[in-house]
Amino acid sequence: MDTYSKLSKQTIFLHWVVATFMIGLLAVGVYMHETKSFFLYSWHKSFGVLIVVFVLWRLYNRMKSGWLEPVRQYKPVEISLSKIVHWLLIIGTILMPISGMMMSGLGGYGIPFFGLELVAPNPNPDDPTKMIPLNAPLAQAGKVVHSLVGDILIGAIALHIAGALKHHFIDKDNTLNRMKGMDISSK
Ligand code: HEM
Ligand code: HEM
Repeated sequence: MDTYSKLSKQTIFLHWVVATFMIGLLAVGVYMHETKSFFLYSWHKSFGVLIVVFVLWRLYNRMKSGWLEPVRQYKPVEISLSKIVHWLLIIGTILMPISGMMMSGLGGYGIPFFGLELVAPNPNPDDPTKMIPLNAPLAQAGKVVHSLVGDILIGAIALHIAGALKHHFIDKDNTLNRMKGMDISSK
């Protein structure tokens, strides 16, 4: 259970696993899209599907135990900004895997999962290099959401990290220490 002075092992584990996956997937996503590095696509899709387990676990954990108690009295503007950013991060982590699966699965490109085939590709029999979408409008919607929410998330994560660093180095409070797993009652 999370308390004011110490967060549960589960909260710490899930925060850092989801954070690492999200930053990695965003970086690889942008890189492979820009450079057309198609060999990275199946890795990106597999890890993108895997993260769903941790995102849902984290969501359940957060709904069960509520939002974290602030380590000190923040200014109202800080509270509002951090709430908005936390919501953007949570909604973004849900929308990215869903939109990715819509784009790839319904676009006919298929969804691999570490060598398994979750959704098979649907090649055009006359030209196997081209895929036939299973549902072109939904696949297109997935593509637009994946790209747009990806950009919004990159901005939100930058603000989130800047906020964490400000708390740590400028305000010198225990916000980051507590998320690193420290017991802050003795600090
Ligand atoms: C180097 C990167 C990161 C650092 C240093 C960091 C730091 C922190 C800190 C210190 C908190 C606690 C805030 C508080 O007590 O009010 C926090 C909470 C949170 N972080 Fe991060 N974070 C990072 C990356 C991410 C990423 C990539 C995501 C998701 C995309 C994320 C999502 C969240 C969410 C949703 C919370 C709210 C508390 C919770 O639900 O557990 N963080 N982060
Ligand atoms: C949290 C999970 C995910 C994140 C953060 C993420 C992030 C990204 C980002 C930022 C891009 C670049 C988009 C652009 O610049 O237009 C991208 C591209 C892509 N993503 Fe994801 N993604 C995730 C999950 C998935 C999943 C689950 C799939 C499919 C099963 C997927 C399939 C793709 C594909 C095929 C592209 C390339 C699109 C293109 O080149 O037009 N992604 N991803």
